[in-house]
Amino acid sequence: MAPLVFILFLFFFSTASADSNIASDFSPLFIIYKDGHIKRLLGNEFIPPSLDPKTNVESRDIVYSSIYNLSSRIYMISKPEKTIKEKLPLLVYFHGGGFVIQSPFSYGYHNHLNNLVSEAKIIAVSVQYRRAPENPVTRAFEDSWTALKWIASHAKGKGPENLLNSYADFHKGKGPLLFEGEAIHLSANQTYL
Ligand SMILES: *[C@@H]1O[C@H](CO)[C@@H](O)[C@H](O)[C@H]1NC(C)=O
Ligand SMILES: *[C@@H]1O[C@H](CO)[C@@H](O)[C@H](O)[C@H]1NC(C)=O
Repeated sequence: MAPLVFILFLFFFSTASADSNIASDFSPLFIIYKDGHIKRLLGNEFIPPSLDPKTNVESRDIVYSSIYNLSSRIYMISKPEKTIKEKLPLLVYFHGGGFVIQSPFSYGYHNHLNNLVSEAKIIAVSVQYRRAPENPVTRAFEDSWTALKWIASHAKGKGPENLLNSYADFHKGKGPLLFEGEAIHLSANQTYL
């Protein structure tokens, strides 16, 4: 008798707490609770910027929007002053994840950009943006645009980030700005800066 009561109690307790607190269950991505808070289940890791020993690519995070605390993660070969003779093509990378999950700090994107920057001999800027469901999707576009303007502010070599001033080629005739993203498929072959 006792085990049955226990099982019934567990059943009641678990369904009661699940049903009464959850507003929408989007497992395995996220859960929205009735009190408004959101629990993200996937893509939450924060891989710190680093010097990647495998590719010799160095990354660092630069805040481009202090209002929303949003950063760009910049990737470039380490100690460029020793090996780089001319400026490099610039890749602006918008991570995927359906505007809901992942970030530039997720393992997959961090790893991908280390490899890409090393193999393609480019400089890359991976853009953080505000995500749904806390934010309507338009905010991801607004943030990406803010980030692009921040990047463009380096075109004359006078932006806040020295790596971009010194090494990003904004002016070469053959497509100085490249865009890549799973969410935003876009490519540009001319500068509008
Ligand atoms: C800003 O964001 C970074 C991660 O991108 C986080 O580590 C830091 O704590 C945040 N700062 C504030 C003031 O929220
Ligand atoms: C970019 O445009 C130039 C001039 O119109 C052209 O010669 C070049 O092939 C284009 N590059 C790419 C990658 O499409």
